[in-house]
Amino acid sequence: MSLADIAYLPEEQAHDAEIELINEEAFGPGRFTRAAYKIREGGPHERDLSFVATNGEKVIASVRMTRIAAGEGRALLLGPLAVRPAYKNIGIGRKLVKIALEAARDKGFGLVVLVGDEPYYGPLGFSRIPYGQLSMPRPVDPNRLLAAELIEGALEKFRGEVVHENLVREGA
Ligand SMILES: CC(C)(COP(=O)(O)OP(=O)(O)OC[C@H]1O[C@@H](n2cnc3c(N)ncnc32)[C@H](O)[C@@H]1OP(=O)(O)O)[C@@H](O)C(=O)NCCC(=O)NCCS
Repeated sequence: MSLADIAYLPEEQAHDAEIELINEEAFGPGRFTRAAYKIREGGPHERDLSFVATNGEKVIASVRMTRIAAGEGRALLLGPLAVRPAYKNIGIGRKLVKIALEAARDKGFGLVVLVGDEPYYGPLGFSRIPYGQLSMPRPVDPNRLLAAELIEGALEKFRGEVVHENLVREGA
């Protein structure tokens, strides 16, 4: 396998089954208990802001984005991000994050939020959200609550309880 064999593509419905397997492999059954999973249960992800890496016909990595809301603020939740073990540490994860951020910026989104490791996401433009600014549906280590501002000032408005944006639209 050479890096030239790897393609980065917008996610399609046909990728769903493989993405599910990749996430199961990466996160195990514990993924269902995570705060981010709980938020994502509130509605669909944004397929046109979600991307896969492929090697030939095989999906080998995936990143998804989901619309979320907190107070007056709107953002995208990045995740899950997962790379198949045989393809780790060759830059695929970072590339997927960069592509997803660029797509979000192009579509006019001001903020991307995630739950993850700052040493990994920091160099990609994410930093810690001030403690207490957000309330998540399940406990989260506050050091892992990170945001990348695509429009200056977007984080300031994003405060309070984090939910899927559909729940706000529906007034639930
Ligand atoms: C985390 C993950 C997405 C990284 O993808 P990847 O394609 O292997 O990573 P990249 O090749 O882009 O980056 C590799 C670098 O990140 C580092 N790295 C990987 N995971 C890290 C972490 N959790 N914290 C800090 N650094 C990390 C590697 O050590 C490597 O460092 P180097 O460049 O100095 O050698 C992948 O390992 C994975 O799928 N893990 C399981 C699922 C997971 O934890 N997802 C993230 C949820 S927030």
